[in-house]
Amino acid sequence: CGIIGYVGSKEIDVTSILLDGLSKLEYRGYDSAGIAVLNSTGTIDLHRQAGKIANLVATVENGSRPGDSTLGIGHTRWATHGRPNDTNAHPHPDCSGSLTVVHNGIIENYAELRRELQQGGHVFQSETDSEVLAHLIEREYFGAANHDLVLAVRTALQHVTGAYSIGVVSREHPDLLVGARCAGPLIVGLGENEQFLASDIPAILKHTRNILILEEGEVAELRPEGVRLTTLYGTPIERAPMIIDWDIEAAEKGGYPHFVIKEINEQPEALRRALTGRSRDGQLHLPELERMEHAGLLNNIQRILVVACGTSYHAGMIAKYAIEKWARIPVETITAAEFRYCDPIVGPETLCIAVTQSGETADTLVGIRQAREHGAPVIAVTNIVSSAITRLADAVLYLQAGPEIGVVATKTFVSSVAVLYMLGLYLGQSRGRIQPEQMREFLAAMDQLPDQIQRILDQANSEGDIIEPLAKRMASVNSMMFIGRGVGYPTALEGALKLKEISYIHAEGFPAGELKHGSIALLDPETPLVGIATASHVYEKVVSNIQEVRARDAHIIVVATEGDENIRQHADDIMYVPDTLEIFSPLLASVPLQLFAYHVAVARGCNVDQPRNLAKSVTVE
Ligand code: G6P
Repeated sequence: CGIIGYVGSKEIDVTSILLDGLSKLEYRGYDSAGIAVLNSTGTIDLHRQAGKIANLVATVENGSRPGDSTLGIGHTRWATHGRPNDTNAHPHPDCSGSLTVVHNGIIENYAELRRELQQGGHVFQSETDSEVLAHLIEREYFGAANHDLVLAVRTALQHVTGAYSIGVVSREHPDLLVGARCAGPLIVGLGENEQFLASDIPAILKHTRNILILEEGEVAELRPEGVRLTTLYGTPIERAPMIIDWDIEAAEKGGYPHFVIKEINEQPEALRRALTGRSRDGQLHLPELERMEHAGLLNNIQRILVVACGTSYHAGMIAKYAIEKWARIPVETITAAEFRYCDPIVGPETLCIAVTQSGETADTLVGIRQAREHGAPVIAVTNIVSSAITRLADAVLYLQAGPEIGVVATKTFVSSVAVLYMLGLYLGQSRGRIQPEQMREFLAAMDQLPDQIQRILDQANSEGDIIEPLAKRMASVNSMMFIGRGVGYPTALEGALKLKEISYIHAEGFPAGELKHGSIALLDPETPLVGIATASHVYEKVVSNIQEVRARDAHIIVVATEGDENIRQHADDIMYVPDTLEIFSPLLASVPLQLFAYHVAVARGCNVDQPRNLAKSVTVE
């Protein structure tokens, strides 16, 4: 979910600021949205609408447009408790209509709180967990003689367990916006006689570049003249603002029809940025790890756990092959939601690597927090500066991929894999398993990857390329299979995930050799198969598996290495990629698969930037 808030002293169109901010946050959830604005007569105008933010904009414009206001909050929702309808949309009012609340996250003890509040006479309108916050704050506010909103928020939150970021406004306090954070991101933007609250920087970058990032358990009081930070218990906190130097243009579509295709095309640049400064003159530089090294945290590592979700999990699976090969340390890659509840065996000898482009995925955060409690050293791989995961890590390796707005991960996948390769090389080098000459060779091969991806993109953008027409032909199938071996296996998984995420075609990835042990029963002439058959030590084996499938009359699409003529006899369609070292092949083979998924989705008329049911940052477990 995404939160936006504004408090100012001048007469300004608060509604437009909120709606514009929400449009920048739409990637965080978009099944319903709402705004609450204090109007000039001293009452709160509430607009809530199921569906995309455009629906909300339409209702606000059709209705009375609130003017002369200096205070408001807004929210875009990704449903967890309660269906995505108008009533469950935020902001949620209290019983008296005195205050409204927006919330991102989950209130774990909401059922008890709701019962308790109902017994106290509070009447609930929605099915959400979030509404308890409005009633809880109302109870604390009116329960105390001094009617102190900030104190009421603090006291209310002391009863809450779970993960949340919230924004609160009250008609009794036209000059006050209160924000609080316990997990889930929340930032404050500092302006002149106006202040902003938001889940993410792009939502307010138009208005200010001076940003305060709230830490867990902090409460922000925003007034036109300034912002005060305290803990949940009222202890004041001093923090200097960060100055943001990125460009708002970077978050726009830049001429492409969709963010996803823009971001696929940005991959060479993203990869170059991931390599910048790290691969220099044939040597690897990861100064981010120095502190861990000096503290001896990497000396006794016996085992590595990579913890991640979704596409980041696939990046982690590729990392397993690379790290085991180069550092000869056993690596297990585990989905974060499983890790947390499997009573994991971790300790100071287990290095945990958290891979999360957003840095906010709740499953990953919770799992990593638990690993830390057992003394495990943690390295975070993320794209978002100062995101929640960075505060749980001993070291952070940033992707530097730039903002990714499309919900499905494309350039952040490529950058995550590249950063994990560098981490693998680093560990291999520090264990004396990679000699300087070998390092030079690996880095030289990596340095070529951005140009090689550019070649794949140039080819795809040129007349007569096969990917788009192939995608159009495949757009009406019901199911597809993807197979690969070695690093081709996670590549197959990611190819299948991209296709299902944006085109809604059922797709599965398998280790090529495993197909015959069951899933081959699913194959028929209507089920195309994509084989990852780039040059590798298991190439012949993959080709045999493809032949097994071809014998069942399935349509065969292959990703192969340029120059491989042999493959033609086994395939109906071939997507060629440049030659690289086997271990780096996923970075090239993934690109035609992303393009394929994109074009299939476009041909099917799907919303590629915001696929149904998905959210970019899943801040709930
Ligand atoms: C969500 C997104 C996926 C993403 C996953 C992990 O489910 O829809 O595209 O791969 O979260 O996100 P993270 O930010 O942790 O990499």
